[in-house]
Amino acid sequence: MATVTFDAVSCVYPGADRPSVDRLDLEIEDGEFLVLVGPSGCGKSTTLRMLAGLEEVHSGRILIDGQDVTDAPPKDRDIAMVFQNYALYPHMTVAENMGFALKIAGVDKQERAERVLEAARMLDLEPLLERKPKALSGGQRQRVAMGRAIVREPQVFLMDEPLSNLDAKLRVQTRTQIASLQRRLGVTTVYVTHDQTEALTMGDRIVVLKDGLLQQVGTPRELYETPRNAFVAGFIGSPAMNLLDGTATAEGVRVGGLIVPVERGLDASGAVTLGVRPEDFRVVPAGEPGLEIAIDLVEELGADGYLYGRTTGEHPVAVVARVDGRAHPGAGETVTLAPNPEHLHLFDGESGERLN
Ligand SMILES: Nc1ncnc2c1ncn2[C@@H]1O[C@H](COP(=O)(O)OP(=O)(O)OP(=O)(O)O)[C@@H](O)[C@H]1O
Ligand SMILES: [Mg+2]
Repeated sequence: MATVTFDAVSCVYPGADRPSVDRLDLEIEDGEFLVLVGPSGCGKSTTLRMLAGLEEVHSGRILIDGQDVTDAPPKDRDIAMVFQNYALYPHMTVAENMGFALKIAGVDKQERAERVLEAARMLDLEPLLERKPKALSGGQRQRVAMGRAIVREPQVFLMDEPLSNLDAKLRVQTRTQIASLQRRLGVTTVYVTHDQTEALTMGDRIVVLKDGLLQQVGTPRELYETPRNAFVAGFIGSPAMNLLDGTATAEGVRVGGLIVPVERGLDASGAVTLGVRPEDFRVVPAGEPGLEIAIDLVEELGADGYLYGRTTGEHPVAVVARVDGRAHPGAGETVTLAPNPEHLHLFDGESGERLN
């Protein structure tokens, strides 16, 4: 078990005109499950690969348990990595695949067998130990890849989109298994995904990256309730937060015909983005303060529904609101939506930085 520190770490690939990871500062606690999330190309894999020693650090330092490993080869870092393509050896059985790293490390046969069996029990793989990978389902292969990492009892687990080859249902199941297994083992884990739902459900803390730059670090709740900028606001949460262009006036923020009173004094002439989560809109009687929305579609999900529409008027803006799944207005109708004043998010219209 170990802490991990990134100290102003940058990676510039040969020939690139800007860093793929740009002065990353990050402290990962012992035993923590940290999720790196962000859109494709934001630098998640690069960050993980630098920690594993597979990518050169251009500047800055990486520490594992206080030890500077910036220039240490991968084998000296006591890290186990699980990749997206599990890369199992096809000619070896499950047991041999799982024990291979131990064999290379010179662990004797008896101990190897014990550690493989223990991991296999944890992962429900015991009945499959003598099979070859081709006779396994995708989810089972994924668990073998996990098992191979677990038997090494490393200080740190690194996982790069390990679930992306699984179908939706299996992904949900497996992510719960990985999260609970990690908690049981207590091994510091850095987990990469581009799926914000995975990040929210699995991580103790989440790091959001964009263009190689750290946007925010925090617990799932912190990122959801107080995103530091409009990018994080739009990225975390599904359906995404509504981000509406507005202007600051003396009375509050004006968005279309709606004036949203705000407590904090805002720059009276500034452009402001108003953020409202879908669940923070409420359908109110016509004529009450709110945004007039023409409904395009209502997606019914049983208990809840999502209403998709556009603001009426000159420059229509797409809006999504959560509604009662049983009683809601229908496509083609026009409704008034009022945001819950307790849960408003305000961002600078230019920089995107949070204002409230
Ligand atoms: N070997 C390389 N040489 C040059 N540029 C690279 C190399 N690997 C990655 N990059 C670039 O670095 C940036 C970050 O890539 P990285 O693989 O870390 O992204 P990612 O966040 O893991 O994306 P994805 O979700 O698509 O896997 C991208 O712009 C990518 O094109
Ligand atoms: Mg990647």
